[in-house]
Amino acid sequence: GKVAVLLGGDSAEREVSLRSGQAVVQALRNAGVDAHAFDPAHNPLAELKEQGFTRAFNVLHGRGGEDGTIQGALHYLGIPYTGSGVLACALAMDKVKTKQIWQASGLPVAPSVVVSQDETLDYASLLDELGGKVMVKPAQEGSSIGMSSAATAAQLEAAVALAWKFDDEVLVESWLSGPEFTVALLNNKALPAIRLETSHEFYDYDAKYQANDTQYHCPADLSEVEELALRQLAEAAFRSLDGAGWGRVDVMCDKYGHFRLLEANMVPGMTEKSLVPMAAKAAGMSFEQLVVAILRHGEG
Ligand code: DAL
Ligand code: MG
Repeated sequence: GKVAVLLGGDSAEREVSLRSGQAVVQALRNAGVDAHAFDPAHNPLAELKEQGFTRAFNVLHGRGGEDGTIQGALHYLGIPYTGSGVLACALAMDKVKTKQIWQASGLPVAPSVVVSQDETLDYASLLDELGGKVMVKPAQEGSSIGMSSAATAAQLEAAVALAWKFDDEVLVESWLSGPEFTVALLNNKALPAIRLETSHEFYDYDAKYQANDTQYHCPADLSEVEELALRQLAEAAFRSLDGAGWGRVDVMCDKYGHFRLLEANMVPGMTEKSLVPMAAKAAGMSFEQLVVAILRHGEG
């Protein structure tokens, strides 16, 4: 049948999604799939039916595409789609809810405090409480958009104000020294872990998509025992959110070298610099084989 590759959309990660989606369309076509780009920012979703699409490959990142809303709409239209369903996507889009589930499941996360727009905050004591240096994140964003670090009360106030531009709810998290890892999942199983090394203070938007000096290590140079522990942690984290098929779990070490879960991505990047294709390659899979596997998952 005809496959719609959903790309673009109107989230803050639109540009990333266009890059991911174009790569996916090309690879599916190379594999002989009748794939076509479909941008819901320009076409109403209901047109999928009228245009004869029988299946959707979702590469929409961020709000509207990765947060359960499009999954619900596709379900309602009766069009099977790749990746996780409504619940997993809605949970994973929200870093606060994600952390609550992980904590309740006994999975390791960094200490953090959630701050809302309507609160009066004592920035100095908040900073103290979280160890003197923090990372500030809007609850619902991707690609590090709206994130910054803070080590003084004034920086924290500015960082929170920036994050509030993207979401009413903001996560203030104890600074993690790293290293940072990411684990891709395919058919609910972890692929080899990747270790990220950036010259920036953290793996920000520029380090993700622009910089030429970001280094990716896969294998991640972990011991066999650590690699296995990290993969099992990522699988448990994905499972606890009800994830299905493919995704990516981001993890960072604290100063004691313990893994702390950061977040899960239910529609991770598929650009030429992206991490899931890199992990698949380390497992011996081409980009084309990867997209076909994602498309076929759950087809029965
Ligand atoms: N949010 C971006 C697309 C990623 O996780 O790869
Ligand atoms: Mg994300």
